[in-house]
Amino acid sequence: MKKQLIKLIHRRLAPIFSRYGIEDCSFIDVQVPPDKANGDFSLNAAMKLSKAAKCPPRQLAEEISTILAEEKDWFSRVEIAGPGFINMYVADGMIEKCLNEHASSTDVLASDLQNPEKTVVDYSSVNIAKQMHVGHLRSTIIGDVLARVIEALGNPVVRQNHLGDWGLPMAMVIYKAESEVANAERSGVPLEEALPLARLEELYKAATAECKENPAVADACHEYLVRLQQGDQGLIDLWHKITRVSMAEVYRIYRQLDVKLTEEHECGESFYRDMLAETVAEIRKTGSLVESDGAQCLFLDEFKSKEGNPLPIIVQKSDGGYNYATFDLAAVRYRTAKLGAERIVYVTDARQALHFKQLFAAARASGILARPDVKLEHVPFGTILGEDGKPLKTRSGENVKLAELLSEAVEKAYSVVNEKNPALSEDRKREVAQMIGVGAIKYADLSQNRNNDYVFSFDRMLALNGNTAPYLQYAHARICSIFRRAGIDADTFQAPVCISQVEERDLMIRLMEFGQAVVAVAADLRPHILCNYLYELATCFSSFYDKCPVMSCEDEKIKASRLAIAGFTRKTLARGLDLLGIAAPREM
Ligand code: ARG
Repeated sequence: MKKQLIKLIHRRLAPIFSRYGIEDCSFIDVQVPPDKANGDFSLNAAMKLSKAAKCPPRQLAEEISTILAEEKDWFSRVEIAGPGFINMYVADGMIEKCLNEHASSTDVLASDLQNPEKTVVDYSSVNIAKQMHVGHLRSTIIGDVLARVIEALGNPVVRQNHLGDWGLPMAMVIYKAESEVANAERSGVPLEEALPLARLEELYKAATAECKENPAVADACHEYLVRLQQGDQGLIDLWHKITRVSMAEVYRIYRQLDVKLTEEHECGESFYRDMLAETVAEIRKTGSLVESDGAQCLFLDEFKSKEGNPLPIIVQKSDGGYNYATFDLAAVRYRTAKLGAERIVYVTDARQALHFKQLFAAARASGILARPDVKLEHVPFGTILGEDGKPLKTRSGENVKLAELLSEAVEKAYSVVNEKNPALSEDRKREVAQMIGVGAIKYADLSQNRNNDYVFSFDRMLALNGNTAPYLQYAHARICSIFRRAGIDADTFQAPVCISQVEERDLMIRLMEFGQAVVAVAADLRPHILCNYLYELATCFSSFYDKCPVMSCEDEKIKASRLAIAGFTRKTLARGLDLLGIAAPREM
């Protein structure tokens, strides 16, 4: 509805603007006033135009509102407020008409994107031989939502799991794991059992400690690294085996989280290993590489140390090796040249903010981008805190393992389901508990403004009241049960909608705001905008359902309309939850 309204306003106001010498009024937007008493929409065009038109805003507002008031189909009232705001009250008939049109499209999102952008979303990006801990949770689930949302709007999306799977840490694990792999293979024990991810992590930690204490081990690991880089077949085989064992566990978690990453999205640092020298050579061509203490560096004006000294971006270390930034430079080059990316979104915690600032500046300054106009965006996020306000840790101070967190949430969700609906079959209870437990963890994260730290609390995230996944899932299940009890198919039911009470009107307006919320998520890369929208929608539905009886309504036309509104609310909730990667159970 908002889009149609803006179109109308642009068309009707163009002659006024043109009279004041302004030919393009596409910058005019409408706002939704926080207080409903100020109308359904408001317009600040008069204030915006005033300066250029050299005309007081009130006078312009008079002119504009007179024109708009002629649109009787659209508005029941148009009023001037304050210094020159124009408040618009949409006619009920127009709301009905717009929702009827909207409800007839096959997808409630009904995106009409004009310029699709090929978008790479770099997320999860776990490290091999390290367990995924809660720190990876945020990148994985935020990134997954962003990929889903950007894709749903009609942009081609390439998901990239930029694994930490190359370099010295890998050489160290291989060095330590070599004999254990051989033993396992000799005795026929599957590698996943003999060397589970937890064991690989132990080996890596042991190697780190030994390298520090014993220079001979450090040398040996370095030698392994050189052999690995030179493509020594034996080591490459080991590297491959360790990577697969490690990723097998990661995929178990992805499946549990319903995250859409598969092997085809793996494009780790190892993938770029043969492009690094070339990338550095390409950067050298621009003449901007400077040798500093033997390392090849880029110095960009915008990066200074606290003391004001130039801060280098190292692209090749003094020993000839490459670092995190070099891999990323090779990756950004590849993504623009080979993947055709027009937008690249990187989802990592906020501590990497400087790295990405430097990466983006370096990529632009060094001319390695096949598309210089590519949008490069870092999506930083805060830390998950324990109830004590410190980063979430187990009692013994270890990082909390994601797998354990998920099973605990599912266990707790089981009690919620059991209490709420004891009549469900045992299998169904388990199934629903899975949806609620996992949904609760994901939603608790997604519903926060991602820049903030947040406190992890099972009790809060599993509550059936408040801005939680179970609350939304329950609203969805409740609508399903209305239809079930009436013996009507919720998915296919259609009827013209009409307004007989204000709660219907409010809900109908909300329903039409879904697309805007989704567009805002894709633009700002903030999933909580969609969470807030869905929460408000569910709250609005709740008031509607309190005040507007559905099945007991005697007027058949109103009854059908209310069912249609409920059905459309269900579809919108389900679609929204799906974009958040959260299941919408039909009963719970
Ligand atoms: N593997 C890295 C880490 O765990 C994250 C990689 C993020 N993506 C990137 N292109 N740098 O810290």
